[in-house]
Amino acid sequence: MIDSMAPENMTFTASAPSNIAFVKYWGKRDAAIQWPANDSLSMTLTRCRTITSAKKIPGSRDIFRFEGQELTSDRKSSSHKVFEHLGRLREELRVTSALDITSQNTFPTACGIASSASGFAALTLAATAALTGETEWDKLAVLGMPRQRLAHLARMGSGSAGRSIFGGFVHWAAGDTANSQEIVEICPSSHWGLSDLVIVFSGHSKHTSSSDAHKAAWGSPFFPARLAGIHSRMERVRAAIKSRNIEALGEQIESDALEMHAVAMTGTPAANYIQEDTARFLAWVRQERSTGGLPAWFTIDAGPNVHLICETNAYASVAKRVAEAWPQVRVIMDQIGPGPTLARGTAKELFGEVTNV
Ligand code: PMV
Repeated sequence: MIDSMAPENMTFTASAPSNIAFVKYWGKRDAAIQWPANDSLSMTLTRCRTITSAKKIPGSRDIFRFEGQELTSDRKSSSHKVFEHLGRLREELRVTSALDITSQNTFPTACGIASSASGFAALTLAATAALTGETEWDKLAVLGMPRQRLAHLARMGSGSAGRSIFGGFVHWAAGDTANSQEIVEICPSSHWGLSDLVIVFSGHSKHTSSSDAHKAAWGSPFFPARLAGIHSRMERVRAAIKSRNIEALGEQIESDALEMHAVAMTGTPAANYIQEDTARFLAWVRQERSTGGLPAWFTIDAGPNVHLICETNAYASVAKRVAEAWPQVRVIMDQIGPGPTLARGTAKELFGEVTNV
């Protein structure tokens, strides 16, 4: 790669969606190379996104502004990860230019909506475009950056980010060796209209980061049992998606989320993401389903908020029942989507003012 492919001050913008895992990535076999303990499978979303712009600048210091605030590259700060990621991308592309990055989310950060997934996906794409001057997938592939490679780079920033490089339903296979990992779009978003109602109980950051919780999983007595059952879980989830069977899918995603949280709650140290409201909501969903035929199933990431999954044709009735029973609670409506976009131009030029969903 030649370090002058993109001129300085030309802005490139990526818009990458978050994703919700139906089979959770939980635990790493090797943290240094981001090798997960198990396969995971997710649905890429549409409205919950990170929009990130990047341009090359003179000098050697990267600048990163998140929602108007400049982040520090101090090694001890949590924002150090994004600067480290830029270094990794430059090394991969064999370039040296510094970057000026601005980034914003369309949803509350660090609350169980995977902001690190959309964040590292958007950062990987925007920075790669700024460093290469290229925005088209096939041209990036010619430069040695096919989508699969971009997904692997994104997952080095945050594991779940690799899945946000694709749309629809995405399988991240852990592989038998770290190098045989694969991230694959198994069905496009057009295959099945699914919605995700994100029930926001808290917009605050989680107390235990997922990196710490991934380590703690190995201390849980339930973790070996979870890993032993992952292969058959994955088969069942893939089959339910292929045949568009919402009951079969729903049963698996609830069970997988509860299993992940059982591991988190019994890890060393233990992490408890489920708050009182979360627990009451889960009980309500199951009760309404069995007595009132509510056609929706829950899943929960590393935060107190709940993702309620239903077929898009049932969305309006599910949303109405949630609003009636939980009038105080904020609900973000999202749905399956086709994945990220990458283009030349600023966020404002491409998307106008970005507002929260
Ligand atoms: O990508 P990380 O390290 O933030 O881990 C994500 C973990 C979960 O969101 C809870 C599950 C998943 O597969 O997305």
